[in-house]
Amino acid sequence: MKIAISGKGGVGKTTIAGTLCRTLGRSGREVLAIDGDPNPNLAVVLGIEGNPAPPPLSGKLLERYEGEDGKTRVRLEDPVEEVFRTHGIAAPDNVTLLLLGKPEHAGTGCMCSSHAVVREVVHAAVAETNRITVLDMEASLEHMKRGTAKYVDVLYVVVEPYYRSLEAAARIQELARELEIERVAVIANKVRGDEDREAIEQFCAKRGLDLRVLIPYDETLAEAEREGRSIVELNGASVAVQRIAELGKEILASAA
Ligand SMILES: Nc1ncnc2c1ncn2[C@@H]1O[C@H](COP(=O)(O)OP(=O)(O)OP(=O)(O)O)[C@@H](O)[C@H]1O
Ligand SMILES: [Mg+2]
Repeated sequence: MKIAISGKGGVGKTTIAGTLCRTLGRSGREVLAIDGDPNPNLAVVLGIEGNPAPPPLSGKLLERYEGEDGKTRVRLEDPVEEVFRTHGIAAPDNVTLLLLGKPEHAGTGCMCSSHAVVREVVHAAVAETNRITVLDMEASLEHMKRGTAKYVDVLYVVVEPYYRSLEAAARIQELARELEIERVAVIANKVRGDEDREAIEQFCAKRGLDLRVLIPYDETLAEAEREGRSIVELNGASVAVQRIAELGKEILASAA
């Protein structure tokens, strides 16, 4: 099962991705979390202490080979478990974290090989180790243009109840269709009341977006942020964690 979490800047992608990883991992499944943001911060939400700095995924992990059709392709040089050993951080609750590399040459901003390696790692993690993979995407649509998201089964788009965030979700859905991603679903976050809920429901209905989960605005998240701690540890009974855990159960049921 391959999941990616996308959406406009600051909508709650990392909070949701990290919490989802932990609730999935607590069910007993092994989870691979990939921080696809060049400025990574998924580690905190995952409950990783200190500031470990493993080498980020880089194109050096790939080798070229010639496919049956004579075309040159790339694949991981080593088994994916070896990549976890050399590049992964073990997190609580059966989660392993990998980081996407920063742009290799300052100024050019080109991350092509980093994106190719994420694609290959996700593919191998599922094929070789049956892990659930959760990719926390950066706010720009760079990932999708590079086709990384082509290797996801479900793309969740996190939205907040304001117009630009909702419009971004509609654009992401269009792009996902072009990339032939099977399922796109919306997670509404920071919902403060009925007006917010209705605005999101109406937008989704009008634009054909599949609204799956509503997560209320939750003060405990601000507290977790202030303390630099994982919400799961600070307050596992908080309403946001409970909603994300319900989403996790749904995902596990559909993956069974
Ligand atoms: N349901 C919620 N209630 C209250 N605050 C929330 C909620 N979800 C997320 N937040 C807060 O919103 C802020 C942004 O969250 P987060 O970093 O997860 O967003 P992001 O989409 O990953 O951002 P970026 O685009 O910068 O990667 C954080 O301070 C987080 O604690
Ligand atoms: Mg983020």
